[in-house]
Amino acid sequence: MRAQTITRKPRSRRRIALVTVALSMLLAMALPLTGYIAHDAGLAWAQSDDAEKEAVNPRSDYWRAVRQGTEGYSAVSGSEAGVLIQNGGENWRNVRNGPLKFVGGSLLIAVLIAILVKHLVKGKDMLDSPTGRKMTRWGGFDRALHWYVGITFIILSITGLSLLFGRALLIPLLGKEGFAAWAQLSKPVHDYLALPFIVGFALMLLIWIPRNILRSHDFAWLKSVGGLIGKDHPQAGFMNGGEKVFFWILFFGGVALMVSGFYLLFPNLGWERDSMQLSHIVHSASGLFLIAISLGHIYLGSIGVEGVLEGMVGGEVDEGFAKQHHNLWYDEVKGIAPPEESSAAPDVSGATPTT
Ligand code: HEM
Repeated sequence: MRAQTITRKPRSRRRIALVTVALSMLLAMALPLTGYIAHDAGLAWAQSDDAEKEAVNPRSDYWRAVRQGTEGYSAVSGSEAGVLIQNGGENWRNVRNGPLKFVGGSLLIAVLIAILVKHLVKGKDMLDSPTGRKMTRWGGFDRALHWYVGITFIILSITGLSLLFGRALLIPLLGKEGFAAWAQLSKPVHDYLALPFIVGFALMLLIWIPRNILRSHDFAWLKSVGGLIGKDHPQAGFMNGGEKVFFWILFFGGVALMVSGFYLLFPNLGWERDSMQLSHIVHSASGLFLIAISLGHIYLGSIGVEGVLEGMVGGEVDEGFAKQHHNLWYDEVKGIAPPEESSAAPDVSGATPTT
């Protein structure tokens, strides 16, 4: 009996081992299947649970309150602290990356093309009869102020455009690291130059108001587009109709640019996010518009018209330039006519009188 028990033991162990191996194999084969079934079942369960949650989950009310900025849904206190998700941010991003960039960019390209076409077709506006005699046109203070504003405006334009269009235009040129370095420089330059620019710009706009009051001969000038339509040079005082319109666009656009820029520069003064978003759109739109008209001004004030730049550089212009482009001012300086501001409507014929 003892011998029988001893001989059976290894056989039953082998059987147990075989059964274990077989079971393990079955289990191994079945596991993925059960996992799949469980996953499927789980999904179905989760979906039905989601649907139930939609209807009754108090968390959805919570997140709705967060989204709507209901007071008390944030642990932080202070202005707008209850607003965890501000819907206006998405609208602002869409306007900035959509119409603002598209319309603004197209405007700049259109102005550059118009200048090029004008220059190629009409060429430089040459002096008909230069005399070699000089007349003082711009005093030292006016010139210093003009170049101070002009140079700061150009730096602000380049840095501002880099921030708005840099990712699309400069990354292909400078690479990501190059652009990151340039953007890191542009931002503080734009911020720190803003206040000195505002001071000079506001002063220039204020002290040049009197000579930019529109008079009847300016409308005649505008009607003939400064002589582009018709044969004769239209009449003009110290500033012509086009320069006066440029000035007033600069004035009102400049107010929008400066006020919105001030909001953006000092977020710590307590503005709320929607004011900052609106300020950003107003600032970018007015900036792009002013850059566009300044491109036209820079062209006409340099290579577009012969003899004009020397007035803003050295202070004096040729008498021939004065007669041709600012005949009423020339007459006034020579004592032939009264000052422009005393004569409401000197002559609206649009033709230059022969002197
Ligand atoms: C390189 C850039 C610039 C050049 C070459 C330039 C050139 C000139 C010249 C030659 C004049 C005198 C026009 C005349 O005597 O009739 C002038 C006037 C003026 N410029 Fe510029 N300018 C430049 C940039 C700017 C900028 C960036 C601004 C402002 C954003 C500006 C604003 C003015 C204003 C307001 C006047 C007087 C026009 C008026 O009062 O109606 N300029 N500029």
